[in-house]
Amino acid sequence: MPAEINKIAFLGGGRMATAIRDGLLKSFPPNSLVVYDPALHKSWGELGCGIYESPEALFAESDWVVWSVKPQVFKAEKDTWKSLPFSGKGMISIMAGICSEAIEELFPGIPVIRTMPNTPMMVGQGMVALSRGKNAEEHHLHFVENLFAPVAKTICVQENQMDGVTAISGSGPAYLFYLAEEVHKQAKSLGLSEEQASLLWSQTIQGAAIMLEGSGLSPTELRAQVTSPGGTTQAALETFEQGQMAEAFGQGLLAAKKRSEELS
Ligand SMILES: NC(=O)c1ccc[n+]([C@@H]2O[C@H](COP(=O)([O-])OP(=O)(O)OC[C@H]3O[C@@H](n4cnc5c(N)ncnc54)[C@H](OP(=O)(O)O)[C@@H]3O)[C@@H](O)[C@H]2O)c1
Repeated sequence: MPAEINKIAFLGGGRMATAIRDGLLKSFPPNSLVVYDPALHKSWGELGCGIYESPEALFAESDWVVWSVKPQVFKAEKDTWKSLPFSGKGMISIMAGICSEAIEELFPGIPVIRTMPNTPMMVGQGMVALSRGKNAEEHHLHFVENLFAPVAKTICVQENQMDGVTAISGSGPAYLFYLAEEVHKQAKSLGLSEEQASLLWSQTIQGAAIMLEGSGLSPTELRAQVTSPGGTTQAALETFEQGQMAEAFGQGLLAAKKRSEELS
């Protein structure tokens, strides 16, 4: 834990905040992580993290505030947070579709790092994109990258790329779960139990992801390696093509980006 940091505060202690907290607990003492959440998630107190009764105290006593409420809560409540005293080092937003300017308006001059995490962060395998607001400097960005490092890989992007990031890695886990649902549905017809199909599919996704990242081969080359002429893979791929699956997937990515733009 950096010597100059005493408290990292979470406004909202739900699923994503909990995942970040669990990563931070590897390098921060529990009492340096504090939360305000009207739902009062028990796990924070049980781990020795601080629970605040009001957002006022949370802001006043913290070095960094992580905005981890839902975007709609931010929009509805932001005026009540506007005048809260904050003399810490900066703020981190994980809220989808909320631009850093929206927080800068509430806290003029404060460095803001906007991020887009994803749910695999809950199992220490997240992907987090970060961009800096107009008051943030490189060292703020690096500080926040290091915060996420125990539970995610990080990438720095321009803020205007965040809608594209949301479409790929923010929503992406759901696309894979969607395919997993189909594997489950077909398990019986394939002569397998759901449990067997689930293991086969999840390990296949993990292995393929490692090859995509580290083999040095393009997706097209990797696909060709598995596709013998007239073989089983080709039979499946031809069926996907007849169903225009690739086009539908591409359209889905664009729809997610468009929705992210609309939300912000
Ligand atoms: N889930 C994802 O895949 C994902 C991916 C990227 C980014 N994000 C972003 O992460 C943020 C949190 O998402 P999540 O999935 O962790 O949601 P979540 O589990 O619902 O957590 C949000 C927490 O904020 C609490 N809350 C509500 N009003 C509050 C207030 N006025 N002050 C303080 N806390 C309040 C909620 O309590 P109640 O439950 O009682 O309302 C809840 O415990 C969202 O902005 C989302 O856009 C999520």
